[in-house]
Amino acid sequence: MDVVGNHSLLDARLTIHKQVKGLNQMKVQSSTVAVLGLGYVGLPVAQNAGRAGMVVRGFDISPRVVEALNVGQSHVDDISDLEVETMLTQGFRATCEPVDLVGIETFVICVPTPLAPGGGPDLDAVRQAGEVVASSLTRNALVILESTTYPGTTDSVLRPILEKSGLIAGVDFHLAFSPERIDPGNSQFTFANTPKIVGGLTRECHDRATAFYLKMVDKVVSAQGLREAEMAKLLENTYRHVNIALVNEMARFSADLGIDFWNVIDAAATKPFGFQAFYPGPGVGGHCIPIDPNYLSHYVRSATGYSFRFVELAQEINSQMPAYVASRVQKLLNKDGIAAMGSTVVLLGVTYKANIADVRESPAIDVVRALRQMGVQVSYYDPYVMDWTVDGIEITRSTDLKFSIQACDVALLLQNHSVFDLAEITTLAKRLLDTRGVTEPGAAERL
Ligand SMILES: NC(=O)c1ccc[n+]([C@@H]2O[C@H](COP(=O)([O-])OP(=O)(O)OC[C@H]3O[C@@H](n4cnc5c(N)ncnc54)[C@H](O)[C@@H]3O)[C@@H](O)[C@H]2O)c1
Repeated sequence: MDVVGNHSLLDARLTIHKQVKGLNQMKVQSSTVAVLGLGYVGLPVAQNAGRAGMVVRGFDISPRVVEALNVGQSHVDDISDLEVETMLTQGFRATCEPVDLVGIETFVICVPTPLAPGGGPDLDAVRQAGEVVASSLTRNALVILESTTYPGTTDSVLRPILEKSGLIAGVDFHLAFSPERIDPGNSQFTFANTPKIVGGLTRECHDRATAFYLKMVDKVVSAQGLREAEMAKLLENTYRHVNIALVNEMARFSADLGIDFWNVIDAAATKPFGFQAFYPGPGVGGHCIPIDPNYLSHYVRSATGYSFRFVELAQEINSQMPAYVASRVQKLLNKDGIAAMGSTVVLLGVTYKANIADVRESPAIDVVRALRQMGVQVSYYDPYVMDWTVDGIEITRSTDLKFSIQACDVALLLQNHSVFDLAEITTLAKRLLDTRGVTEPGAAERL
């Protein structure tokens, strides 16, 4: 078997493949594709495979997701109902039935990889998806894992499950890992123009996966093997996590020192080399930053016995930010002799990033918890979020931005959706805490 991971076959350095003639001429059996897990990652993969002329089955364990997609309803921000309808006309069908995947040539696994209650990796969905694929696997098929995970998962967790089919990876079927780099809400960098990293169990596995993706994306980047591809994604996310923690910590002591840290970042960002600007905020949210670095630190600890101190420190700093924001609200009220207990605060924007509807892992959740502990009455205004509960208690949704800002003791800007009129918010608010540094200097209290 040609093992790519031991560097014997691939160049030791990363190789960038553009539309390499030889690859495109390979016989590629990827005309039927099954995407397992039809969420923020899987649905765009299914959409792009359909656009590239492949026949696409979507598999998901959620009947709600499957039923909605089959009648043209999207549950993902970046894909509209109209686009789902187009997918359907191109032949896409969603299913909860593993039997519908029999005979498929390429399987792409995009299931969630959350944290287990103890903080370690929870790979149950990857295992379950592996079982589904194993039950339909045929000779010469290609299986790709896209879910973010620790190095070694594809080879030591997924491969043995797939081989229950009686087929051997790298011999009878092809196995690869390709991390998803989707950035919800980003219209500049899309699925097609973001380079796709691919690592294969063998050279042939790598080439098959590369040829599959080159039908959909402009550029594929070859990693030496499965573990390098898995680790590359974790480096990207850990890099963000650590740098966000750095600016969060600096923002906190800058506030105590009377230094406008937003102005500091703007000044530093003028350096044309060697510096990339990161910005403080109320905490980290979403699927990647708060979760993925934990996969890596857990893996490093269990595989080597030592800790990944950068990640653990970043985790500690970033997770303190919601409570710090609540303390800044309290300070703002104190200045005017108002007790936090019984005061009213409206949260402006509660999603984990701007201009999307996703509240999963949003730091706004911990901000609510901290404010509630102080006895604050919390409401929210967010045009993207129709209802929102924290710890089973519904948060009052304001539909009248002007009224709620004027009525509440503090307006707390957590997310800067582009529909917000900052000048209006600044003028109307009795007190405004801006956690994104987007108001004019001096116009509001900034983090
Ligand atoms: N959302 C992002 O921005 C993003 C970016 C890069 C990577 N990722 C990674 O991609 C993976 C998927 O993330 P997502 O955001 O698409 O998740 P998601 O929650 O939006 O979607 C996951 C889908 O998988 C389904 N599912 C769960 N278990 C399943 C199973 N056993 N078989 C089939 N379907 C199953 C769920 O019902 C859901 O529809 C994760 O590993 C995540 O870390 C996410």
